[in-house]
Amino acid sequence: MAETQTEPRTADASSEEVDIFTLQALANETPDLISLGLGDPDSATADHIIEAAHRAIDEGRTGPAPTQGLIELRRAIANKLARENNVHVDAETEVLVTTGSQEALFLLIQSLVDPGDEVLVPDPRYPAYDTAINLAGGKIVLVPTALEHDFALQAADIEACLTERSKALLLITPSNPTAAVIPPDELRKIARLAIERDLIVISDEIYEHFLYDGAEHLSIGSLPGMRERTITLNGLSKAYAMTGWRVGYIAAPAEFIQAVSSLKAMINVHAPTVSQWAAVAALEGPQDAVREMRDLYAHRRRVLMDGLREMGFDFGSSQGAFYIWANISSTGMDAMQLSYFWLQQAGVMVFPGSGFGETWSDYMRFTLLQPDDRMLQALERMDNALNTR
Ligand SMILES: Cc1ncc(COP(=O)(O)O)c(C=O)c1O
Repeated sequence: MAETQTEPRTADASSEEVDIFTLQALANETPDLISLGLGDPDSATADHIIEAAHRAIDEGRTGPAPTQGLIELRRAIANKLARENNVHVDAETEVLVTTGSQEALFLLIQSLVDPGDEVLVPDPRYPAYDTAINLAGGKIVLVPTALEHDFALQAADIEACLTERSKALLLITPSNPTAAVIPPDELRKIARLAIERDLIVISDEIYEHFLYDGAEHLSIGSLPGMRERTITLNGLSKAYAMTGWRVGYIAAPAEFIQAVSSLKAMINVHAPTVSQWAAVAALEGPQDAVREMRDLYAHRRRVLMDGLREMGFDFGSSQGAFYIWANISSTGMDAMQLSYFWLQQAGVMVFPGSGFGETWSDYMRFTLLQPDDRMLQALERMDNALNTR
């Protein structure tokens, strides 16, 4: 399931009787809508990836695959993890290919979490985390993040939330929705804490390639003592503009991969075979398209930040992903009201912060996923609507 269908959840609209489903329905009917809402890349999948899918079809490589995924793809994933992340796993036993990383998230939580287990999650957060943990009967423990640290999770705040029921920590860097990148030194502190307190770490690294202003990505699974307690979660949707192909993966110790694979076999057997061949080409082929997308987003990010700053909004340094998480309290509206207002008065869709956590009604998540001219138009329309209220 892509981000499209999962975020954000219903939130109160204070005085207005509006929820996110109403907003989405309204957005679908809005002529000349500019969406700064959904988090799915607007670029096309690179030609060599599409050609690999065509070849697989032409050559009849469309039949069933092993539940764990094609060995060619598992090898490509293991090589990628070693090359880019310094995470070393056995392609035969320590990798599972999934139908998007969203499926991986649900399967791994279901396999890991027993009723009553506590899972620490940074707040604000990607809403599917809540659904996955709730479905497994786990207890979500929210670890606060704050503007003073550019919303990057802090080891001390995690420590303050630990109890004897703490089972796992869900890490996401760069973050959706805040775009925060946890600095390597802080990540090392988090790793030490995980080892000391025997925590399993689920590391969602789906935005790893989108880094700006010198930010660095460190995979927590590469740190000493972390290999055996880390589940690395990733997918091809963002880096390769492949949301619709539905390929994700996890890398983790063999016993865990076995447990998750057994569950996957009962649910949808394996990820689509043609998409897996396309994913091999994505991971093993030229990486220019990934770099081009990052450069494009770096430029758009400047355009969006300048525009939001001119509108008087505050935000952290937003060093990753393709989002800006901005405080909109200066408008005098809460996020749901403002979302509704911009949709109606400006034809622009922006997701309210309250969809990413109950207490975030002063924030909105803006995406960078429109060409410059459309983004400038969106900024102008939003500003005009606010100035002519
Ligand atoms: C943080 C995060 N994790 C996982 C996913 C799921 O991505 P996919 O299922 O397309 O791999 C998303 C999608 O938006 C996301 O933002």
